[in-house]
Amino acid sequence: MIEQPDHIKSIPAYKPGRSSVDGWDGPIYKLSSNENPYPPLPSVVEAVTRAAGHMQRYPNMSAPEFRSALADRLGVAADDIALGGGSVESAAQIVRAFAGHGDEVIYAWRSFEAYPLLVKTAGATAVQVPLTPTEHHDLLAMLAAITPRTRVIFICTPNNPTGTVVDHEELRAFLREVPSRILVVVDEAYTHFVNDPTAVRGIEIFREFDNVVVLHTFSKAYGLAGLRLGYTIARSDVREGLAKTAMPFAVTDVAAAAGVASLAAETELQERVDLLISERDRVAGELALLGWNVPPSQANFFWLALGDQADAVQEHLLSHGIIARPFSGDGIRISIGEPEANDAVLAALRSFR
Ligand SMILES: Cc1ncc(COP(=O)(O)O)c(C=O)c1O
Repeated sequence: MIEQPDHIKSIPAYKPGRSSVDGWDGPIYKLSSNENPYPPLPSVVEAVTRAAGHMQRYPNMSAPEFRSALADRLGVAADDIALGGGSVESAAQIVRAFAGHGDEVIYAWRSFEAYPLLVKTAGATAVQVPLTPTEHHDLLAMLAAITPRTRVIFICTPNNPTGTVVDHEELRAFLREVPSRILVVVDEAYTHFVNDPTAVRGIEIFREFDNVVVLHTFSKAYGLAGLRLGYTIARSDVREGLAKTAMPFAVTDVAAAAGVASLAAETELQERVDLLISERDRVAGELALLGWNVPPSQANFFWLALGDQADAVQEHLLSHGIIARPFSGDGIRISIGEPEANDAVLAALRSFR
């Protein structure tokens, strides 16, 4: 029997959203992983097929064409972009590079399920600061949680799983109080779904504060979850650390080619994002009218704050072919899918009780 070291033993393994339902033979809607429900565009499939033609070779880790196209799109220098095999790998690079044994990493809770795993596998200590009763980041409490051992703070906006955003001006005020030796990570995995003008604008924050990095992904709005393509926008001091902790060759040439093709097809992709945003607002609006507690979401999912009813609602959804993401005793996160999937969610929730 091979024993795990103590700091690994206590960690629950990451659980991906489930994808099947026993005993239901109607249509199944997988709304558990905040994926884009639409299949890849033909131009992206073509680029992927072309790139796959040389997959006997290791990828070019610097992905110059992709980084340069992305830099143009974002208005940052190509050198400021450090790639990751999905933004979860980017987040892992950050934690491994900047927090180790005896260090503390602060993040809101409930938030992205991977944060505790990344922090604990790095041997650091997770400091979880509860969300406010309206499911928002409690920035004052996060400030109060800073100690001399704090090395990294994650700000997840929109927050997974609650969908709530941090206010841009409030984040600036927070950052003015955070010691500049602490790295603040603004995780904007869902930024493309934000239409609230008061929400954090990560790149502006990055330009203003030297100790801030921003995480983005091609998994959500761009629909490339299966190809694993994310990145950190960071200055050279941070990038030097990330270059040491990045998994070599985690970003394939195939993924980078899909990234280039996706940036070239942004107008078409934006139409899908716009549809998902309007569906989100439709579903959340109807659920609020029905009396469900749905915090304002700026992401491609919404949160039902259910407390101890979470398990019962989850069973009810499953019995209607809907696979959501339950957090027992707390709530359920439901991704926005195609209109028929969202209609199925509404019908199921209307018939609960
Ligand atoms: C807040 C947040 N950050 C990062 C990620 C990681 O996404 P990926 O690794 O697919 O880029 C997710 C995925 O669910 C997320 O919710």
